[in-house]
Amino acid sequence: MIKNKTKMTVLVVGASGATGRHLVNQLLLKENKVKIIVRSKENLPKPWNEAKNLEIITASLLELNDNELINYTSNCDAIASCLGHNLTFKGIYGQPKKLVTDATKRLCQAIIANKPKNPVKFVLMNSSGVKNRDLNEPISYAQTCVIGLLRLLLPPHVDNEKAADYLRTQIGQNHKYIEWIAVRPDGLIDEEVVTPYESYPSPIRSAIFNAGKISRINVGHFMAELINDNKQWRKWQGQMPVVYSKTSIKP
Ligand SMILES: NC(=O)c1ccc[n+]([C@@H]2O[C@H](COP(=O)([O-])OP(=O)(O)OC[C@H]3O[C@@H](n4cnc5c(N)ncnc54)[C@H](OP(=O)(O)O)[C@@H]3O)[C@@H](O)[C@H]2O)c1
Repeated sequence: MIKNKTKMTVLVVGASGATGRHLVNQLLLKENKVKIIVRSKENLPKPWNEAKNLEIITASLLELNDNELINYTSNCDAIASCLGHNLTFKGIYGQPKKLVTDATKRLCQAIIANKPKNPVKFVLMNSSGVKNRDLNEPISYAQTCVIGLLRLLLPPHVDNEKAADYLRTQIGQNHKYIEWIAVRPDGLIDEEVVTPYESYPSPIRSAIFNAGKISRINVGHFMAELINDNKQWRKWQGQMPVVYSKTSIKP
């Protein structure tokens, strides 16, 4: 009998976070080989110590040099980022202000340096508050004003915008080495199990005045599905799907 082969190799950054850990679990459930780069092994889920398909690299991502990043990304079929600024004063206003953008850029540059035979899938966890400027996504005047304020007051919002813009404009739709999807969750909540959810090319409700909900485990499930299911990948490649748990879809 032929044994199930281990599937793709996926590097996850932001894996210690509230969403990242769900993504890692979902990838392991799908028998992917998973590498994670975390600042600390403390507080990681206990079962990860025994997970045979999980490699834990302890390092501060943006402090790795180019050669180290090239090495860690080589042989990866996909890379996923669930990075986000810690919700403390230092996390929001301190360095690195461009955590998500710089990580996205440097990981993409490492992929390019590796000249992979097949394009590597890059999945970025972004936010429904970020517009896909490739599409004409209408938002109200009031929301435009609030987003303008967020840009001034909340560096992490600008960081999320710039990270998505980098993929959209610098990597683009026909890159030789990288294919990408930027997942835009609406309001994140915590739940224990995967529940029905839906994805849309653009928000179907105001991310500011009438936000819906999506559980972090559903976001992890969606990102893992995208990586593993080629039909899903082709459907959303080069786009910025917005995801809602089904119970919260009705405005
Ligand atoms: N809250 C919402 O409703 C909402 C909605 C849509 C989108 N989002 C976006 O989704 C992101 C992820 O959400 P979450 O709740 O899963 O975030 P989270 O639990 O805060 O996780 C953030 C991850 O980023 C890592 N990180 C933070 N600063 C870092 C640094 N300087 N260097 C390396 N790694 C660093 C953290 O690592 P450590 O464990 O080492 O700190 C952690 O793994 C948010 O930040 C936001 O941009 C949020």
